[in-house]
Amino acid sequence: MDARIDLRSDTVSKPSERMRQAMATAEVGDDWYGDDPTVNRLQDRAAELTGKDAAIYLPTGTMCNQVALHAYVRSGHFAVCEANAHAGRTEVSSAAVLSGIAFRYLTAPERGLLIGEQVAAALAPDPYDVSVVDLVTIENTHQVGGGSVLSVTGVHDIAAVCADAGVPLHLDGARIFNACAVAEVPVAAYAGAVTSLMFCLSKGLGAPIGSILAGDKEFIREARRLKILFGGAWRQAGIMAAAGLIALEEGPKRLPEDHENARTLAEGIAELLPGSLDPDLIETNIVFVDVSGTGRDATQWRERLAAEGVLVTMIGGRIRMLTHVGVDAADVQAALAAWQNAAKAA
Ligand SMILES: Cc1ncc(COP(=O)(O)O)c(C=O)c1O
Repeated sequence: MDARIDLRSDTVSKPSERMRQAMATAEVGDDWYGDDPTVNRLQDRAAELTGKDAAIYLPTGTMCNQVALHAYVRSGHFAVCEANAHAGRTEVSSAAVLSGIAFRYLTAPERGLLIGEQVAAALAPDPYDVSVVDLVTIENTHQVGGGSVLSVTGVHDIAAVCADAGVPLHLDGARIFNACAVAEVPVAAYAGAVTSLMFCLSKGLGAPIGSILAGDKEFIREARRLKILFGGAWRQAGIMAAAGLIALEEGPKRLPEDHENARTLAEGIAELLPGSLDPDLIETNIVFVDVSGTGRDATQWRERLAAEGVLVTMIGGRIRMLTHVGVDAADVQAALAAWQNAAKAA
């Protein structure tokens, strides 16, 4: 048994027994020929849920973003994104190498949440035609922003600005179902405001692998071509898609539990280390702790917590923790006890 409490990401969760059963008995075919019935069911279900014409099942969220970027942005042109967006930061070299794309970064007023006005300013035409923007991409929830939620109205504001400028809007919705749980809206409410979106089955929804990219028919047709260009077909992917279908059905329902656990974790840490975070800002399943005022740096905290059996990551000198299906309320209490012990350790 794994005694560690793994808060490094919501990607570390293991597939449920029901997923494993479904994977073992999945009907499969060669996805190159469009012959995998389970992949087809997953794609159809994703299109239906998002209200988009079509969807494609891809191995990762990164690949979904990269396919979208390549489809929309000409080599040498720009995509606009928030300064700490995954697509523009973690994936910056992928976009450069695969598509020759540059980013124009906008710093959001708070927690990574872009607003329409600043996007409008970024889309003003360059009188010298040096930088041409072909795409705006937004992230919801915003990971580095601490799992912050952009409202449906906020997304519509940005969409209106993009529509005025004739620029498509792509949503990196790796954790869009977490946003939906907070905003209490179906995913179609967000999807309806954007040109395309991706979401991950492998994060809070609990599947072992896979992400979805959804948009209009022409876009998804191009995405199929780009899937082949970027790596080829993934053949009997129905084995994975079977778990994805269960993730779509069951995953969203239990996200409020992850959010409650994250809030409890944040409250406990704020009590132990006053000023290190504001628990009232924890909306979803991500908790960042600013340990700069504790006399120890993030590496030291991470090592001490690991010695206490709690795994965390560091981003920009802060400690990051995510709750997920593999973490229950008792684990949160045990993690808080580990923080207390780590604080006492010399
Ligand atoms: C906001 C966001 N977008 C995209 C990704 C990429 O997803 P994947 O790890 O499936 O490539 C991540 C991964 O953590 C993410 O947090």
